[in-house]
Amino acid sequence: MKIVLATSNSHKIMEIKDIIKDILDKFELLAMKFNVEENGKTYEENALKKAKIAYEKTKIPSIADDSGLTIDALPDLLGIKSARFMEEKSYEEKNMTLLKMLRNVPDEERTARFTCVAVFYDGSPHVFKGVMEGKISHEMRGKNGFGYDPIFIPEGYDKTTAELEQSEKNLISHRAKAFRNLADYLKRILK
Ligand code: IMP
Repeated sequence: MKIVLATSNSHKIMEIKDIIKDILDKFELLAMKFNVEENGKTYEENALKKAKIAYEKTKIPSIADDSGLTIDALPDLLGIKSARFMEEKSYEEKNMTLLKMLRNVPDEERTARFTCVAVFYDGSPHVFKGVMEGKISHEMRGKNGFGYDPIFIPEGYDKTTAELEQSEKNLISHRAKAFRNLADYLKRILK
């Protein structure tokens, strides 16, 4: 069975392939570079829009995701708009700006979470969600991962997700939770 993975983020593709590696022998996963305007009001709307367009273009069942970081102390800044925050700037600049905005915010108010919604579309939508709770660090740390990883400390850890090995992040991340559920669904329909 062929499945299209519709995303333009090569780092995400790497993470997703690692997360669903135990079912990759059962599918031919075709990565499709993809950029659509993410103008939905929810992660689900955006992920569904991407998966649906990919399906309509290719006639092959398609997977897409949408994700973002919510910082409770800066409630309307990121979330579904995470990819568009300071759009032209590097992640180093974005992360530095966020840390500056939070410089007087105490630890207990630095709570944050990553959310991922993955959609498998085969003519009808199948939706899977994952959340990783945590808090924002006081400085950027680590070189792994991407995006906001250097300033996010998952609950129960003292390292940022950029300091974790990719395999460790893939055990606990929002994307891992959503895509493991999606992989379980694919295993069921293959039986
Ligand atoms: P999108 O899902 O491609 O629309 O991107 C969502 C935004 O959230 C981007 O700015 C990403 O950098 C950020 N983001 C999503 N997941 C992660 C993650 O696992 N680590 C760091 N940043 C992330």
